[in-house]
Amino acid sequence: MLDTSYKIPVTRNMKLVTKPLQQMPIMYKTLLTNLQDGILTITINRPDKLNALNKEVMTELNAVLDEVADNTDIQSAIITGSGIKAFVAGADISEFKALSPTEGKEVAKYGQDTFFRIENSPKPIIACVNGFALGGGCELAMSCHFRIASDNAKFGQPEVNLGLIPGYGGTQRLVQLIGKGRALEMIMTGNIIDANTALQFGLVNYVVSIEDLLTKATELLKTINAKAPSAVGAAIKAANAALSNQQNGYEVELEAFGNCFGTEEMKEGVDAFLEKRKPVFRKN
Ligand code: COA
Repeated sequence: MLDTSYKIPVTRNMKLVTKPLQQMPIMYKTLLTNLQDGILTITINRPDKLNALNKEVMTELNAVLDEVADNTDIQSAIITGSGIKAFVAGADISEFKALSPTEGKEVAKYGQDTFFRIENSPKPIIACVNGFALGGGCELAMSCHFRIASDNAKFGQPEVNLGLIPGYGGTQRLVQLIGKGRALEMIMTGNIIDANTALQFGLVNYVVSIEDLLTKATELLKTINAKAPSAVGAAIKAANAALSNQQNGYEVELEAFGNCFGTEEMKEGVDAFLEKRKPVFRKN
């Protein structure tokens, strides 16, 4: 558990005060984080290894997801990679050599569970793909709520080159996002597609210059952050249910729609419309 409180030193006329640290950033070894305007930018920072996802990155991704969930100052998040060459070039292949089938399955389970947390986060998390998004990198981007690519971005699931298949949800999410034929072509050939092909396939929502990547994401997240947070979270839940074979998406939608009527945010949204003013959903 990361310590998010600090103690103010006691002086003679002062009582011991402990208060939660709201603004002090949590430090990570393999991630950089920056919180601005309610948006936490998470940068995977192993540029010498093209930001490959080793054990430490995966552990820290879980820690930063705790931070996103728990810190009320964070309204939404961006995931990107350090440098201009790679978003993430995959799981760290150097950790694969000694794994048994059971251990391989455990690694995949940890990856799947981590990416489920991103997919199911009620706070929006979007991927800014700034270069290679291969293997686990493509899978990480696909677990985000949507993706924006820079024009030098490249996507692929090249695991067959290693005698592997995607294991962090890639066989499922790629089929969901671009259709089975295109997904299987990418997975079976290991071919890499460029940003414009990814746009044409619906894998990304926008292609922009690398300089405009974070600006575009920030602009979209500012729009989303001004909406009712509980409605945004409910929309994510209902949309995810559309792709679940354990849930009836229409039932999830009914439940979530009904629940909106019990929220202060719905009252504020409707009142504001009727009073011809802008709704205020967050008190900052
Ligand atoms: N795991 C571990 N290390 C990786 C990596 C990965 N997935 N991808 C890149 N790296 C490392 C390289 O080993 C190299 O490290 P080194 O300088 O210590 O030798 C460094 O990152 C730079 O990569 P390099 O291959 O020299 O860059 P490149 O421009 O020639 O090629 C790629 C770029 C992305 C085409 C190539 O790195 C690649 O094919 N990576 C693996 C992609 C993959 O198969 N991903 C799925 C994994 S399951």
